[in-house]
Formats: sequence, structure tokens, C-alpha cells
Amino acid sequence: MSQHSGTREQWGSKIGFILAAGGSAVGLGNIWRFPYVAGKYGGASFILFYLFVVCVIGFTVMLTEMAFGKHYQLSCVSAFRQYKGGKFTFMGVIVTLIGTFILSYYMVIGGWTIKYIVSSLSGLMGEAAAGHSGDLFGAFISSPNQVLLYHVIFVLLTSLIVFGGIKGGIERVCKVMMPALFVILLVMIVRSLTLPGASKGLEFYMLPDFSKLTLEGCLAAIGQAFFSLSLGMGIMITYGSYVKKDEYLPSAVAQVCVIDTLVAVLAGFVIFPAAFAFSIEVNSGPGLTFITLPSIFAKMPGGAIWSTLFFVLFFFAAITSSISLLEVPVACLIDTMKMSRKKATVVATILVFVLGVPSALGLGSHAFDIAGKGFLDFIDFITNNIGMPVMAALTSLFVGWLIPKDILPELDSTTRVFTHKNLWLFCVRFVAPAVILVIFVTGLKW
Ligand code: PHE
Repeated sequence: MSQHSGTREQWGSKIGFILAAGGSAVGLGNIWRFPYVAGKYGGASFILFYLFVVCVIGFTVMLTEMAFGKHYQLSCVSAFRQYKGGKFTFMGVIVTLIGTFILSYYMVIGGWTIKYIVSSLSGLMGEAAAGHSGDLFGAFISSPNQVLLYHVIFVLLTSLIVFGGIKGGIERVCKVMMPALFVILLVMIVRSLTLPGASKGLEFYMLPDFSKLTLEGCLAAIGQAFFSLSLGMGIMITYGSYVKKDEYLPSAVAQVCVIDTLVAVLAGFVIFPAAFAFSIEVNSGPGLTFITLPSIFAKMPGGAIWSTLFFVLFFFAAITSSISLLEVPVACLIDTMKMSRKKATVVATILVFVLGVPSALGLGSHAFDIAGKGFLDFIDFITNNIGMPVMAALTSLFVGWLIPKDILPELDSTTRVFTHKNLWLFCVRFVAPAVILVIFVTGLKW
């Protein structure tokens, strides 16, 4: 099956592969969404439930996607095409389109992180101290030239890394950025925890409150786990396709899940103690990152340094995710159109950039609104609430029911046997699709 064996690119090392997949998983969602959602639904009690979801469903589905990729050693479209004369090729195409659309707006936000690194060093703190961080953000996102400029920079950086290939580009960059991200995170935790009054924030985050863990909270945990682990959009299939045949996948997947969850939980140790120390209410999304946090940093001694460090961390989180998203269409162009990596990267980059322009410009005007939503929110809704759960469920059903005999051997390595195959298969066939269906139905609330 592996038409390209011998010539196909591969990860240089297991740790490089884990950091690249971990880099994909650790992204905006870990920093601007997880702490807020956890705080809202009972802190430690939410985290406990989230851990359960990651272990039972997140791990299962990620292992499924990676083993599928490892088996065929092909991009999503070509891998799905291998079964029954191409009847399921459409699934590969949809998965690739979902990733491509998510990337188109993800890179717009990536551009904002660069803008804020620059601003942190030039005046952001002064404005935030004067209570103007909201105005500043509003003025920035409604300035088309500024937004497009930083969008282009982020797109070019993403493209440049993917241009370098699996080992020489993606793996090399993740091996530097992921440890750096972790170190910055630890430094920021120490800063936040040593602020006077920080302990109240810690209490809020760490004392379990099971009364807040409602059904809605449980569903939020499942949705968050899927988005955070980058499932249902072809990434883990594509990354899995560069894994060497003798690699033991279950332990690698477990480590990716640990990295992702650890960074999400640790981000809360930066945000809550600092917010409580300065009595600022925590929110989520762009409001938290680009408005609330700058106003918190402005109150700290040496605020410009903390703000810069934070946005560098945020930039690393964003770009290691965006390269994984770009790799999905690039791998498809290489496999299906027989393009060279360089040509495929250029073609995919132009495509995602153009697709992203309405998201970039739609923030300052309503010209691109669809169904009453801004373009970015609309694409986000379609891809995350519909596309991602549907494709994650279909992929699980496909692997679990149609090709389990092909995939099961991929869970072993030459030296190690995965002993929980039946349990895994049960989860892939029944548990994961059922649970995903539930988040899909509840996520449909427009
Ligand atoms: N997992 C990333 C995050 O937590 C986001 C992401 C989603 C990246 C989908 C790639 C694909 O932010």
C-alpha cells in the first residue's frame, strides 16, 4: 500500500514527532479557552472530568487517526482512497477541507500575536495602564492594512517552515519552540503565583466545586478535548503517515495527550492568580488575550517584559498548530497531484491566504457576514461544531468497522505489543462515535 515507502519523508526521531504532534495540539485553545471554561465549570472538578475524557476518548481517537496514517503512509485523501476502489475518497477530501478552512482564520489570529509582540515593546503597556486596551484592540482589528500586514507575515512564516519539510522544517522548529514555550510558561507561573493576593485565584481554580460541573460543563469538556487535541481534521492522520513502521504509537499518543493537557492546566496557573491579584474578571477568547491580559500585565512591575513573553508564548503555540494544519493540504497535493513539496507549499499557501482574507477584513466591517455571523465566526462554527465532530466520528466508524484488521497491527511496534486492543476497538466502534454524536447535536445550537 505504501506507494512512497523509501522516498516518503519521515520524522527524524520519536521525540521530534511527539513534539510536533504536541505542538499541533497545544494552541490557542489551551491558553485562551481552557482556563476560562475550567474556571466556569468548577475548576478542579472540571479538570478531573476533562482528564477522564482525554484518556478515554481523546487518546482513543488520536490513536485511531495516527494508526490509520501510519498504515497507509499517505495523505488523508490518498489514504481514504485505498479502500474499496475509492468509494470513501470524499472523507479524505472533507477532512482536508476542514483543516484548510480552519487554517484560513487561525492564521489571521496568529498575525495578531505578532502584532502584540511588537506592541508590547512599543506602547501597549502605557495604553493598557490608562484603561485603553479594549480601544486599542478594536482599532487594530478594524484597520485592514494592519491586520493584513500581520496576517501576511504569519502566513509567510508558517509557509517557510512547511517548505522546509517534515524533518528539516516542522520537526526542527517544534523541537525548539515547544521546550521554549514550556519554559516561558513556567517562568510566567512563578511570576503570577508570587503576586500578592495570588492565592485567591489559586483557590478558585484548584478547589473542586462539583455543583458547577453541570451537563453543559461535561459537554464543554468533550468539545474542548477534541479541538485541543487537533482531532477530526486530518492532522493526526497526516502526521501519523510520517511515522516509521517500527514506532510504538500508543506511548507516543499518550505523551502528546499529556503535553497538551499539562499546558492547558498550567495556563490557568498564569491567568487566575494574576487576575485575582488585580481583581480583574477572567473571560475567554480574544477578549482575554488581547484586552484583559494586557491590562493585567500593565499593573505588574516590568509589565512590558511579561507582556512580550506572554505573546511570544502565544505565538509559538499558534504557529506550531498552523504548520500542522498547512501540512494537511500540502501532503495531499504532493500525493495526489505529484507536486514537489515546494510547489505544493506555495499553492496551498496562496489558497489559504486568499481564503483567510474575508476573515481578516470581516472583523472591521460586516461586508463578509454570512447568516448574521461575522465571516470568521461563521467558518469557525461550520468547521468546529459540525465538520470536526462529524469527521472524527466517521473516521472512528470507518477504522473500527471497515478496516480494523489492517489497523490493529499498526498499534504494535517490532518490539512491543499493545495489550489493550479489544478495549481500544470497543471505544473506537461504540464509545467514541456515540459521545461525538452527543457533542455534535448539542454543538448545533446556532
Ligand atoms: N489544537 C489547537 C488548539 O488547542 C487548535 C487546532 C485545532 C490546531 C485544529 C489545529 C487544528 O488551539
